[in-house]
Amino acid sequence: MSVREDGRGARDVPAVEFAGVGRSYPGGVRALDGVDLRVERGEMAAIVGPSGSGKSTVLNLVGTLDAPTEGTVRVFGHDIGALDDGALAALRSRTLGFVFQRFHLAPNVRALDNVADGLLYAGVPLRARRERAAAALERVGLADRVGHRPHELSGGQRQRVAIARAVVGSPELLLADEPTGALDTASGAEVMDLLRGLNADGVTVLVITHDRELAAQAPRRLEVRDGRVVADSAAPLPEGVS
Ligand SMILES: Nc1ncnc2c1ncn2[C@@H]1O[C@H](COP(=O)(O)OP(=O)(O)O)[C@@H](O)[C@H]1O
Ligand SMILES: [Mg+2]
Repeated sequence: MSVREDGRGARDVPAVEFAGVGRSYPGGVRALDGVDLRVERGEMAAIVGPSGSGKSTVLNLVGTLDAPTEGTVRVFGHDIGALDDGALAALRSRTLGFVFQRFHLAPNVRALDNVADGLLYAGVPLRARRERAAAALERVGLADRVGHRPHELSGGQRQRVAIARAVVGSPELLLADEPTGALDTASGAEVMDLLRGLNADGVTVLVITHDRELAAQAPRRLEVRDGRVVADSAAPLPEGVS
């Protein structure tokens, strides 16, 4: 995948590029409508907006879990509407990490193996998977909880296990859909700190949040409303405005 179909060098290719992206559903719901967006490698952006505004749709398109009905979505230069299922799965497993509001951990499986399973499709032998899982759990501050099962962990700890699973394969881009939505304020702040730390280590991060205070901690904020990006804190000011 090193040769870019558009001929640009890998260094110039943004992590995410939306051009005129729409996503309609049968029956006429327009979840997204004419979205243009560019997220550079190494950025961290919070996506904010009311319920139903299209936030998850944006993230699902970036995560190649959905495809646009209009326009083009590029992820690290790859037009996701033009890739077959095998290429999409390869892009996801090599490049992307996912975190969800409800953790999605396997019940009755200890933290170490929940995280090690994040490498199942990467062709890493079990022993090496567990070693990398232990390191990822240490990275999220859970070195002393590797043997705990999800029901033996707090909500904040479960989400940190889920983050460890998302990053154990060293993704370039981490996608988090309301990762603090099921957590108390203190645990939510810890999760946000963790995402910022990963970003400082070079991971590009896109995080959806309802929480204005948490969003304010992200270097960039994108506001979605009625399927459009209506504000972007990184957007250049119009000419004449300083
Ligand atoms: N599978 C679907 N079928 C029909 N409409 C959908 C589907 N998924 C989402 N939508 C609609 O698209 C809009 C945006 O949804 P979503 O991106 O999940 O919003 P948010 O994450 O901001 O709450 C909503 O109006 C929602 O009802
Ligand atoms: Mg949503």
